[in-house]
Amino acid sequence: MKSSTKFSSGYKSVNVRPDAYGKISFFGLLSCLAAAVLCVGCAMLYALNTNSSMRLMQVKLTAMSHWTARFENRYRRHSNDLPLKKEEDLANNFPHRLSRRSPSSDDVQLSTTGTGVPYVRWGRRDCSGPSNELVYNGYAAGAYYSHTGGPSQYLCLHNNVTYSAGRYQEGFQGLSRFYGVECRDSSWVSSIFDLSLTEGASLSLHSVPCAICLARQRSNQLMIPGRDTCPDGWTKEYTGYMMGNAYSAKHTTSPICVDDKPQVVPGTEGEQHGEYLYMVETDCHSLPCEPYIAGRELVCVVCTL
Ligand SMILES: *[C@@H]1O[C@H](CO)[C@@H](O)[C@H](O)[C@H]1NC(C)=O
Repeated sequence: MKSSTKFSSGYKSVNVRPDAYGKISFFGLLSCLAAAVLCVGCAMLYALNTNSSMRLMQVKLTAMSHWTARFENRYRRHSNDLPLKKEEDLANNFPHRLSRRSPSSDDVQLSTTGTGVPYVRWGRRDCSGPSNELVYNGYAAGAYYSHTGGPSQYLCLHNNVTYSAGRYQEGFQGLSRFYGVECRDSSWVSSIFDLSLTEGASLSLHSVPCAICLARQRSNQLMIPGRDTCPDGWTKEYTGYMMGNAYSAKHTTSPICVDDKPQVVPGTEGEQHGEYLYMVETDCHSLPCEPYIAGRELVCVVCTL
């Protein structure tokens, strides 16, 4: 069987015998030319067609963009009303959830900076320094040491408690309670604190007082754990030691900075329980040792600016 080479002209196949390769017939050449002409014609027609369809597409796109612009305008006008409507709904249905309110006189007072900043002085009933003013003093309070819940931070309760006249129910009905705070470290802390203001008492098993002091002419306050001096420009209000509840406790509380020249609540010696307070010592896990030293009691400073 003789093989034949097939030339593809795009339009029509021409079979050329290999032995007649040298002398391709005039007819073959002509058909080749005709095919080429047809091909070019087809391409031109296609191009023309594409051109016109592209023009059509352009017209359609322009119409579409006009339409979207119109829609966008309408939507914008509509959505301008939406937030208002939403807020009205909120105010009507959940008035307590609407945080926006007109500024009250309290806000105005708070936003005036430089008139003073309050801070808690833990372990003391007084404030010190020329620009300091006692707001009130009282008792450190927190959760019961063995409870698994309750307040998660030490609070400074007012020494002169007032109750709503006639609006209380004697006896325990609720499930949340405050307790006083007892220093639980034994006598080893006596050499660390300056006990000249405790009237001869040790810290151990005494209740912890506190004072709310106002640092006049200042607007910032900062407690720095691990320092006994303030940054440049800040005023040192007091230095102390970080104290908190035990790592083995059944609940967590945020540690506090207790004055290193503390007082105690007079007449509270002896185990009364309540919330506990222990010296905080740093350990090396994930803390750089040094500069931190494992087992050392961590100092702190309260600064104002
Ligand atoms: C305690 O507060 C009450 C009511 O505000 C007041 O009348 C009383 O003088 C206060 N007592 C002390 C010791 O400050």
